[in-house]
Amino acid sequence: MVSGIDRENEAMQRAAQLRQELAQHNHRYYVLDDPLISDAEYDALFAELVKLEQEFPLLATPESPTQRVGGAPLAAFGAVRHAVPMLSLNNAFDDEDIEAFDKRVRDGLEAGAEVEYACELKLDGLAVSLRYEGGRFVRAATRGDGQTGEDITANIRTIRSIPLTLAGPVPEVLEVRGEVLLFRKDFERLNDAQREAGEKVFINPRNAAAGSLRQLDPRITARRPLRFFAYGWGEIRGGLPGAAPASVDAPPFGTHMGMLDWLQELGMPVNRERQLAKGAAGLLDFYRRVEGLRASLPYDIDGVVYKVDAIEAQRRLGYVSRAPRFAIAHKFAAEEATTELLDIEVQVGRTGAITPVARLKPVFVGGVTVTNATLHNEDEIERKDVRIGDTVVVRRAGDVIPEVVTPVLDKRPAGARKFVMPTHCPVCGSAIERPEDESIARCTGGLFCAAQRKQALWHAAQRRALDIEGLGEKLIDQLVERGRVHTLADLYTLTEEELAGLERMGEKSARNLVEAISATRTPPLGRFLFALGIRHVGESTARDLARHFGNLDAVMNATETELLAVPDVGPVVAASIHRFFAEPHNRQVVADLLRNGVTPGTETVVDRTAGPIGGKIFVLTGTLPTLTREEAADLIRAAGGKVTGSVSKKTHYVVAGADAGSKLAKAQELGIAVLDEDGLKALLQS
Ligand code: IVH
Repeated sequence: MVSGIDRENEAMQRAAQLRQELAQHNHRYYVLDDPLISDAEYDALFAELVKLEQEFPLLATPESPTQRVGGAPLAAFGAVRHAVPMLSLNNAFDDEDIEAFDKRVRDGLEAGAEVEYACELKLDGLAVSLRYEGGRFVRAATRGDGQTGEDITANIRTIRSIPLTLAGPVPEVLEVRGEVLLFRKDFERLNDAQREAGEKVFINPRNAAAGSLRQLDPRITARRPLRFFAYGWGEIRGGLPGAAPASVDAPPFGTHMGMLDWLQELGMPVNRERQLAKGAAGLLDFYRRVEGLRASLPYDIDGVVYKVDAIEAQRRLGYVSRAPRFAIAHKFAAEEATTELLDIEVQVGRTGAITPVARLKPVFVGGVTVTNATLHNEDEIERKDVRIGDTVVVRRAGDVIPEVVTPVLDKRPAGARKFVMPTHCPVCGSAIERPEDESIARCTGGLFCAAQRKQALWHAAQRRALDIEGLGEKLIDQLVERGRVHTLADLYTLTEEELAGLERMGEKSARNLVEAISATRTPPLGRFLFALGIRHVGESTARDLARHFGNLDAVMNATETELLAVPDVGPVVAASIHRFFAEPHNRQVVADLLRNGVTPGTETVVDRTAGPIGGKIFVLTGTLPTLTREEAADLIRAAGGKVTGSVSKKTHYVVAGADAGSKLAKAQELGIAVLDEDGLKALLQS
């Protein structure tokens, strides 16, 4: 029989082992983003530990991962006095500010050569200080006024990327400083859940992170997926084994970068976007690089931070009032701003899609003045509860179309009005309809609607379609508004005299345009089909249709079943094509085009199932010795193959030339056949 003591001993050993394993898996998941086991396996280990700790309550330790679910609510936060104050950074906004900063640093250090800086992201979250004693997490505090912060230990314990014990020999006291934040997608998920529960929504991820950290009930914080990145240190006391006692003035690292690497080795999450740079030019290069990266980062940043790398030099430069002389924050243009929502109007797209657009009081955001922002669709307005008259948060990230993120409910005026989708198109007066299972409302006017007509013409004229040089938006507007052009076919009856009479058109440009239009009378069949603007028929589907059916008549008269035989054409696309050509108005437009001398080409019908590469998927990468990529793609398509842009498990061949990059690597990783140009030619001839 096993004695109680034996069982308890065994349980203790198993619990210790589970804790260590779970800590490792947390680290791999949250810090390295490279999990070793599935979520289910993790949950099973976790459940085993919970069970052991329930059976033997004395086994539970504060460092146990089970403690991350959050303890009992607090009555209030205690105060924590920072042994080393938490300061802030001075801000810089332009290149000159950075040159001046670098000059101050060089002067201060009497540096002969260029100074080396550690460059980091300026994370848009909240600064916190984490205290480890004997390598164990004991306390966490907010920045507060820099001298005294709030004790948020119970909340910080719930953040899974923060190690509860450090992995390695550390000084007796080590305070790690960094930023707590929420990833953007976690923020959006959180707000959706808040809305659903009828709770308050947060304005931005930073706000949500702050709200989560200031929860008196740590069980709520535990459900918020907060993240942490370390970028500095506070108090340091006591020696590392076998070394002289460390202190704030004599830390166990000589450079800022060295400190970050050390913290990372101890298991702390440290942001990977960090690098050394020399002189002002190096700093500005970093700034530009991060600017380009910003939109693709999963979290918000509001700039970058430069810190003199050598700790000894930092010490010599010291502080002015409450900010270090050795560091500076170089800020980006804010991507979000609040402004007033003056009205909501609707815009009509090429296929009649009605998009509600917010008219805004002009606001400077993302580096430009914004007056309009998209609200996507009716459901989105409802979901976000945006009303006319609201103060709203507007976001413009990179080149993305500005959007309304959320109303600021605290500022909602008494007279704020709900948006009502108009029943009729503001442009043509036709009914607006919204199929029950769709989120998009549409104007039913079709090409009767001037808004749709303009965009249909614009679509047809673009380079990827008929490529009519010189037919711009302004000109299309005039032609449609004067009632001269109703359909694509009317373009081919325009005369020089007529055009010369339009605004901003001289005789010469009129002649050029008539010639340019005329030059598009024999388009390849694929481009012609694309130009018609059939819903769901993009460039590549149009090309596939052309190859499959060979001539216009065959496409126009194809049944839905016949259309389904085209590669990548599914039921929705087949139905849309069939509907388009069943519509008498559309058949008339095609007939008029033919009558006006437009004759789309024909194609040799390819039986894609026959031949060595029929239906096979190719990806081209790098520079081939004799063929351009387009030529190679045409050869492949002509033989019934398909060319796509990215390598996946579905890819059959990757054709690689000189300087092939990640696509080739991916192909090798997935074990996909790789050909050079000769290999491709041989395959085509076989
Ligand atoms: S260092 C003595 N590094 O910016 C300087 N701060 O204005 C201590 N922040 O309160 C801060 N990213 O909340 C530093 N890589 C970074 C940072 C960073 C964001 C925040 C932090 C601090 C504020 C300073």
